[in-house]
Amino acid sequence: MITVVGSINIDLVATVGHAPGPGETTVARDYQVHHGGKGANQAVAAARLGAPVRFVGAVGDDDFGGQLLSGLDSEGIDTQAIKRVSGSSGIALITVEHGGENRIIVIPGANGTLAADALSPAVFEQSSVVLLQLETPPAFVAAAIDRAHDAGAEVVLNAAPAASLDALDMARVNWLMVNAGEAAYLLDEIESTDLNTARRHGQMLAGKFATGVVLTLGRQGALWIARDGSHGHAAAFDTNVVDTTGAGDTFAGAFAVARMQNRSIEDAIRRAAAAGALSVRRQGAQAGMPSAAELEQLMADAAR
Ligand code: RIB
Repeated sequence: MITVVGSINIDLVATVGHAPGPGETTVARDYQVHHGGKGANQAVAAARLGAPVRFVGAVGDDDFGGQLLSGLDSEGIDTQAIKRVSGSSGIALITVEHGGENRIIVIPGANGTLAADALSPAVFEQSSVVLLQLETPPAFVAAAIDRAHDAGAEVVLNAAPAASLDALDMARVNWLMVNAGEAAYLLDEIESTDLNTARRHGQMLAGKFATGVVLTLGRQGALWIARDGSHGHAAAFDTNVVDTTGAGDTFAGAFAVARMQNRSIEDAIRRAAAAGALSVRRQGAQAGMPSAAELEQLMADAAR
């Protein structure tokens, strides 16, 4: 079982030629409403790949809250530990530019109300992997990390969006997963996807937080550094990019599934990179997330 602890949002997505700069108004080509939130996306990615998934989070008592819960139910995700609180659900305002690049503003809504009381001991029962992000309050994430570790789970923290990890006991995190921008933020360095610089950043993160590190680099693939110092790199898979929203979440969900299946770190990173590449072919964070069969097909094609 994978337990995902995190955010659930409605994504209001405008497709634009270019995102507006300061003081500028841009006319969108298209507008769509999708289910999103980093936590929910990662849960859906894992469930599509066939894993049993439980979710811990919150939605509001607005119409969006009901729609978001139904969406997670329809993916076969256990939603019993999702609180329904008064007020609005989480909302993300997203622009997607030609070429697939996105910009996101998150309004936390219900996600911002989460506290340690949402974490009954039962939510981590039989969880071999617990996956978390930083779109919920730091004290809640900290409590979830502590309890997941105490329950014996492998703890994967996707430190997105970039934020301080000061409130967290990183000794209890097995894998810190970040992209190049998040790595740069945590290290107070300049962002870079150049492989040599990224390797240096990965080593710096491993040293600073004394944890395993997974660093995703978009077209440069992904690299990892384990706690024992072993490390490696997986190349990116070629893909036709329509919308990169949720690609990192798909990577995280697929990584959690591979670890739940006791796959090696090399194998887990490669499968996660493949799932992430498949996810960007369609618009919307969750629309392109692959099934287990689609992932196996890409892995088989790549091995030929
Ligand atoms: O990672 C993508 C997600 O970030 C979107 O679905 C949006 O809701 C924000 O949480």
